[in-house]
Amino acid sequence: MNNSTIAIYPGSFDPITLGHLDIITRGSNMFDSVIVAVLSNPSKQPLFTVEKRIEQIKQCTINLSNVEVDSFAGLTVEYAKMRGAKILLRGLRVLSDFEKELQMAHTNKTLSEDIETIFLATAKEYSFLSSSVVKEIAQFGGEISHLVPTDIVDDIYSYYNK
Ligand code: PNS
Repeated sequence: MNNSTIAIYPGSFDPITLGHLDIITRGSNMFDSVIVAVLSNPSKQPLFTVEKRIEQIKQCTINLSNVEVDSFAGLTVEYAKMRGAKILLRGLRVLSDFEKELQMAHTNKTLSEDIETIFLATAKEYSFLSSSVVKEIAQFGGEISHLVPTDIVDDIYSYYNK
């Protein structure tokens, strides 16, 4: 029997930030493998396509040998079951995250009793950081190199300069 612990780190990652990368890195030290799962959500208008986001995350996690990047549509717990994972990994930044995240964790528990959500406290230097903050700054040409992995800075500026 395979006893390896697989954690799913689901999210929009539009775009991935240094806060996300910190959670992925710390998760990769805690679990046998981490699957970063990009939600394909047709009702949202994203900056980057799912394929582009996967490519960006792969580029930023190339040195983490137990990290895989994939996409999914539909329910996270169904995707987790399909991948044989019993853990959902999420980062918690501030109190306002907690309400939404706890509601999501409880909802997921009603859908699948044996899948656990594990929260990691976001590194304090990234407690303010979100993909929306990055987009807000980048659209006005502001500095984002301290907020996102170096590999994707140009992708983001190019989006707004096209
Ligand atoms: O990065 P985000 O946008 O905060 O991630 C949210 C995400 C993808 C984790 C959440 O929206 C999700 O799990 N969506 C899939 C649909 C689902 O499973 N809903 C039930 C839980 S509320």
